[in-house]
Amino acid sequence: VKGNEIKSLPLEETITNNKIISEALEGNDFDKAMEQRGRCFQVGYRTACTLMTPQEMVETLPLPEDALCFVVLHSGANAPGMNTAVRAAVRLGISKGCKVLGARRGFKGFINGDIEPLGWSDVNGWASMGGAELGTSRKIPYKGDFERIEERIKEHNIKGILIIGGWSGYMAAWELYKKFDRFNIPVICMPATINNNLPGTDVCIGSDTALNNIMDAVDKIKDSAVAVRRCFVVEVMGRYCGYLALMSGIATGAERVYMHERKVDLELLQKDLKRLIKEFGEDKRRLALMIRNENAYRSYDSRFMTALFNEEGEGKFDARQAILGHLQQGGKPSPFDRILATRLAEGCIDFLVEKVKKKQPAYAFIGIRDGRLTTPPIPLGDFRRMVDKEFQRVQNPWWLELKDIASVLARQPE
Ligand code: F6P
Repeated sequence: VKGNEIKSLPLEETITNNKIISEALEGNDFDKAMEQRGRCFQVGYRTACTLMTPQEMVETLPLPEDALCFVVLHSGANAPGMNTAVRAAVRLGISKGCKVLGARRGFKGFINGDIEPLGWSDVNGWASMGGAELGTSRKIPYKGDFERIEERIKEHNIKGILIIGGWSGYMAAWELYKKFDRFNIPVICMPATINNNLPGTDVCIGSDTALNNIMDAVDKIKDSAVAVRRCFVVEVMGRYCGYLALMSGIATGAERVYMHERKVDLELLQKDLKRLIKEFGEDKRRLALMIRNENAYRSYDSRFMTALFNEEGEGKFDARQAILGHLQQGGKPSPFDRILATRLAEGCIDFLVEKVKKKQPAYAFIGIRDGRLTTPPIPLGDFRRMVDKEFQRVQNPWWLELKDIASVLARQPE
């Protein structure tokens, strides 16, 4: 399924394929069975085998003298799955004979030399950990920072940079890219932000966990209201990107989703208020849920909207606001985010190794589209044409089409 478009697979082909796999397995022809499984399965299997290699086997192998050295760092706010991505990058890097360094607190640590090697066992347990063990910051290098970055690159003989993070990470890469003659090493960005506002990918690491967090919280909030007639205005994160608002609205059955991509004005609020008065008044409703993106409309913030519904609700219901805040960024990454992080890490390490070996330094960002890794990753030069820079989000994202379905589902029968 891509957006609203559903492609059907030929059933006969699938059945034949399954038959070939069963026969191959029965005959112990595992190579043939694997061949039939398709590329995603094969790559996933190979990655899993590497990541599961026993520590002793890896740590007794010395790194070659000329091992390529890469640095990994975060940029932006915390996104669940960042640790999983670092673990995968470190282990997959080592398995390809590379040395992997970690810079603490993003470019802050990189610039100040807070950089250390990451070994196989240093990332033990990181697959499931929330937070970001390496630390993160939104620091974007400027002025004198570039000289210091150059020094660090020379000092550690760094051959490539992997930035795992959000908008600020891509902006930091952009600043280095503008000075390509000085920083002509491969640099790759991996999308990790709960906002899901980055180009070149359908989803960013962390946004699935954040959605789960929102859904859990909203479900509980809804439970609290069963005994009273109440309207909740729930505010979710995302900056100017309405992904979390819209998707959580669909997942929790909200009556309305307010987001910056769609006009929020007094007329709309009045329309919603009238509908609430009518439905609560006619006993058609005992609970109403309005989900609001944190930047849907600056003047009509959650407090204003709650006050409006409370004051003007003609006593038919009351209203409460719930600003979910940082619980959205926290917690252990969901299975989806862990697997996404691992797949993207493999693509990033492959990119860095290939570019160094072929002596073709390049800047790029990676992602998953229609379930597949973007190979080759998208050149960073394409970033600007794919985004709305003012509001830090993607132009025409696939998920925005779902707003019409959300509206239909929220409508009450007359
Ligand atoms: O950019 C990710 C994000 O979680 C936004 O959705 C939110 O507005 C912001 O970070 C919060 O930033 P901080 O964690 O620095 O308060």
